[in-house]
Amino acid sequence: MTTVPKAKVFPVSTQVNDRGHLVIGGCDLVDLAAEFGTPLYVFDEATLRAQAEGFGEAFRSLHADTTLLYACKAFINVALARLLAGYGLGFDVVSGGELALLRAAGVPLDRVYFHGNNKTPEELAQAVEWRIGHVAVDSFHELALLDEIAGRAGIVQPVMIRVSPSTDPHTHRLTTTGVLDSKFGFPIETGQAKEAVRQALAAKNLDLEGLHFHLGSPIFELEPYAEAVELVMGFASEMREQGLELRQFSPGGGYAIAYTEADEPPPPSAYAEAIVGAMKRSCASHGMPEPTLLIEPGRAIAGPAGVALYTVGAIKDVPGVRTYVSVDGGMGDNIRPALYGAVYEAVVANAASEPATETVTIAGKYCESGDVLVHDARIAPVEAGSLIAIPASGAYAPAMASTYNLNGRPAIVLVEGGRATLIRRRESYADMMAQDVV
Ligand code: LLP
Repeated sequence: MTTVPKAKVFPVSTQVNDRGHLVIGGCDLVDLAAEFGTPLYVFDEATLRAQAEGFGEAFRSLHADTTLLYACKAFINVALARLLAGYGLGFDVVSGGELALLRAAGVPLDRVYFHGNNKTPEELAQAVEWRIGHVAVDSFHELALLDEIAGRAGIVQPVMIRVSPSTDPHTHRLTTTGVLDSKFGFPIETGQAKEAVRQALAAKNLDLEGLHFHLGSPIFELEPYAEAVELVMGFASEMREQGLELRQFSPGGGYAIAYTEADEPPPPSAYAEAIVGAMKRSCASHGMPEPTLLIEPGRAIAGPAGVALYTVGAIKDVPGVRTYVSVDGGMGDNIRPALYGAVYEAVVANAASEPATETVTIAGKYCESGDVLVHDARIAPVEAGSLIAIPASGAYAPAMASTYNLNGRPAIVLVEGGRATLIRRRESYADMMAQDVV
């Protein structure tokens, strides 16, 4: 066995076999490409488990009363929902669709939190009818609507209030949420959070359990978490005179992962120390009992577990300018480079023991110049038919995939112990035409 190139960004089970092929979960990626075709997303079960356990242990060792909620938006399907529920995780959903999927997967809905800045009346009514565990209320409109819906259903719905602490986590502009100028949350700074707490406590059919915030994603710094936790706990303390009893507290998700070898995300233990430390200090200084802590990692669970696998087709060398290596996927299965300027590593999956001697631009097959997956990738020499693996692709790539140019969305396999299980089949032409009414 040779060493794994760029091992830091590959799943924990990754190896290189004596044919020089990348192997994940005991499955040779060249064999997987032959069996399932490309583009293919390969999810490593060992990494999913290790990430879920890593976060769980890091937080629970400091605060036993911590609940892990997987943020479905990072990527969810029925098989993954069952797997993660089996690890004991709860879930955060942001749409009726995600909720319906969890229900179909047989996940107990009392473990589910419903987020979102504009849940529709239909989504809220369905969630209440299905007896969802918790709703994170995000607007005055929703407060009134949910109170009425719960009243009609004859239940008292447990809710959190999502506040906005005006804390900048220094993420990409498009993925920052906890600042004042954001569509998410009731700002503390303007007094609107206080008013929301007042209204929630007064609502007959709502049971206010606690406060939630989410700063942005991915957050490589610890300071914003500590700062926002202290601020929101201070707010919670002030709200006690209104009658707020903080039973649950969520600082959201946003835990970073390494996309490149240069990335240095804090380990789960560092996030846990920053968050739990700030929470405990605040509780002590305000004389408040310690609440149940909810954390909502999405990217940190799914991201490191997923590897995208593509086949090289056309190679265009523009002398003195650059070499474009085009693959059979692109912005339709991973919009992140085009949308956020996200940077990924790449490895030639069928030549993983060859030195990375070439600098190329890995382009997709979509009809846009912006459809580039990796600029100036350092990889081993490739030719048509070579396989390119892009690691750290499990979160927000398949989840945000589209059928742009009517390229079907990729197949997804779950690998473990030398077995590959197809958990999503490739989208066919017929699938893409199925909703058209003629
Ligand atoms: N909780 C709430 C309320 C959220 O809004 C989010 C993410 C999470 C948890 C999970 O954050 P995570 O742990 O996955 O970082 N499409 C973007 C990311 C958008 C994140 C939206 N909210 C990307 O590809 O980077």
